[in-house]
Amino acid sequence: MILVSGGAGYVGSVLVKELLALGEEVRVVDTLWFGSPFAPHDRLDLVDGDLRSPSPAWLDGIDSIVHLSGLSNDPTADFAPELNSEANVYATKQLAQLAAARAARESKAIRYLFASTCSVYYAPTTTDEANVTVMTEEMPIAPTANYSKTKRLAEVELLRIADQQPLFVPVMLRKGTIFGLSPRMRFDLVVNVFTLHAWRHKLLTVHGHGEAWRPLLHIRDAVDAYIHLLNAPEEKIRGEAFNVVHKNYRVLELAHWVTEVIEQKYGVDVRVRRDRSGNAGARSYFVSGDKIARELGFSADRGVTDAVTAMWDALERGDFGPEPEGDPRFFNIRWLKETLFAGVGA
Ligand SMILES: NC(=O)c1ccc[n+]([C@@H]2O[C@H](COP(=O)([O-])OP(=O)(O)OC[C@H]3O[C@@H](n4cnc5c(N)ncnc54)[C@H](O)[C@@H]3O)[C@@H](O)[C@H]2O)c1
Repeated sequence: MILVSGGAGYVGSVLVKELLALGEEVRVVDTLWFGSPFAPHDRLDLVDGDLRSPSPAWLDGIDSIVHLSGLSNDPTADFAPELNSEANVYATKQLAQLAAARAARESKAIRYLFASTCSVYYAPTTTDEANVTVMTEEMPIAPTANYSKTKRLAEVELLRIADQQPLFVPVMLRKGTIFGLSPRMRFDLVVNVFTLHAWRHKLLTVHGHGEAWRPLLHIRDAVDAYIHLLNAPEEKIRGEAFNVVHKNYRVLELAHWVTEVIEQKYGVDVRVRRDRSGNAGARSYFVSGDKIARELGFSADRGVTDAVTAMWDALERGDFGPEPEGDPRFFNIRWLKETLFAGVGA
């Protein structure tokens, strides 16, 4: 059985459905902040639980763990830094300690795939293409933003536990920013929000100079990467970090690409506007996905085009209601401010 923490989230809900389709037994533990996207299934055990106080029973019968739960972007991590540390570092460590203890007791390896992020490579923007540093897993990193810092701290904790328990097998998947459809949809991710704004306003706004680089990843490739790692030889992955990236785009280039896809497929003219008033775009990172291709034969080949048209078609069908932009559930910070953080801070 596979334990998927945060399995009711944007990535998790696609992953869990795929694992079930492959015949796996799955236990999801999730606080269900965004509800449950699942219909009852005889191989799905859905637990409404908080990983900050994990129950050892959640590991009964488990061979592998995909650990996705936590705060999943900068705005939520910045708004609630304490919860961010608890959910992203403490909970990750707690679950890992339980897994390591169980592996020792049963003399059986437990694989622990950790949802890390390419944001750990955030670096000051360069607008000079010639000076772009291509980030690889071997490079020293010291992220400072709340979200990426806790992701890195969690990686370090996992490696520490692995040092003490050889049957504990952690792997870090540093994913690029994901795009595409999910039963638990997010419209606060760059390609998804561009598609929503193109559909709703026929206008995309790029904040800042638009020259910042972003590594991107199709949600189906993110899911395939987890499944690949669940099956990869242990000696090739134990304690390793792998970047999972389709391609790096400059934000402005991406906006124009989205408009082109829409114009070609639907004949709809979408404008791109640049808003230089804020300091957005100050974070830029260009990340290589070569290691996972070289060492494990995995490549994330799905591009932006199909995802944009699939989202556009879903918007046209009304899958997200008549006014998705006004629905806070599709935007993590807005939804958590209205629910979990209601009455807290600004
Ligand atoms: N979406 C991306 O672009 C992206 C990119 C890189 C890394 N990641 C990482 O991948 C993971 C999944 O991302 P996502 O987009 O699906 O996020 P998401 O916000 O949609 O899902 C997170 C899920 O975790 C649950 N959760 C949060 N704290 C919990 C706790 N303490 N105990 C149990 N459940 C809890 C929430 O209810 C939610 O269902 C996250 O760890 C995120 O940081 C995401």
